[in-house]
Amino acid sequence: MMVDPELPASDQHAPPSGAAALLRDMGPEDLDFIVALDKKLFGADAWPKSMFVHELAHPETRRYVIAEVPDSAGGSLAVGYAGLMCVAPTGDIQTIGVLPDHEGRGIARAMLDELIAEAASRGATEVMLEVSAVNPRAQRLYERYGFTHIHTRRKYYRDGSDGLVMHLPLPTPDASTTVKDYP
Ligand SMILES: CC(C)(COP(=O)(O)OP(=O)(O)OC[C@H]1O[C@@H](n2cnc3c(N)ncnc32)[C@H](O)[C@@H]1OP(=O)(O)O)[C@@H](O)C(=O)NCCC(=O)NCCS
Repeated sequence: MMVDPELPASDQHAPPSGAAALLRDMGPEDLDFIVALDKKLFGADAWPKSMFVHELAHPETRRYVIAEVPDSAGGSLAVGYAGLMCVAPTGDIQTIGVLPDHEGRGIARAMLDELIAEAASRGATEVMLEVSAVNPRAQRLYERYGFTHIHTRRKYYRDGSDGLVMHLPLPTPDASTTVKDYP
């Protein structure tokens, strides 16, 4: 596991093998970069900065992470981001994106692992997400997790493509499992 000395141990997360990325929580200082990246990845469906500001203002129901890799100057470069909304019993993956140069290295998987675990720790028994019908790569990623297509939202995206609603059941926590207490 790579360790960022700037982060407390609780903020360090091991990426899956083969993916040299570290996850940390997104903060307001990240938003200019993330908004630009979101625009690059999602075009007309990108979120305005105000939407990210709103999301970060509600940590009781949200968790947003950034994936970073080491840069050549000895610092780190943000290459991916993802967000969860969770009101038990349902978690929603709100967004996920990885810089094109860093795709195919398990970075999205690392973020999904983190957010699905977060949803479970907050008492979710299911996770939902929406993906464009013309985005087979992302669909494959979700299918490998066990997400299944349960509903189609016709012309959900601005390019006219349908939105596929996908669903992942989570194991029901047993009585001995502690659910985090969020204010
Ligand atoms: C969809 C998206 C998030 C996937 O990100 P990613 O980091 O490339 O995803 P992962 O690497 O975790 O897994 C995806 C692929 O990499 C492969 N992969 C996973 N770990 C790998 C590793 N360690 N080494 C090499 N390849 C790996 C997976 O098998 C998968 O391959 P495939 O999709 O070609 O079959 C990214 O392509 C993206 O940001 N797209 C634009 C925005 C978008 O569509 N977001 C989703 C909206 S619902």
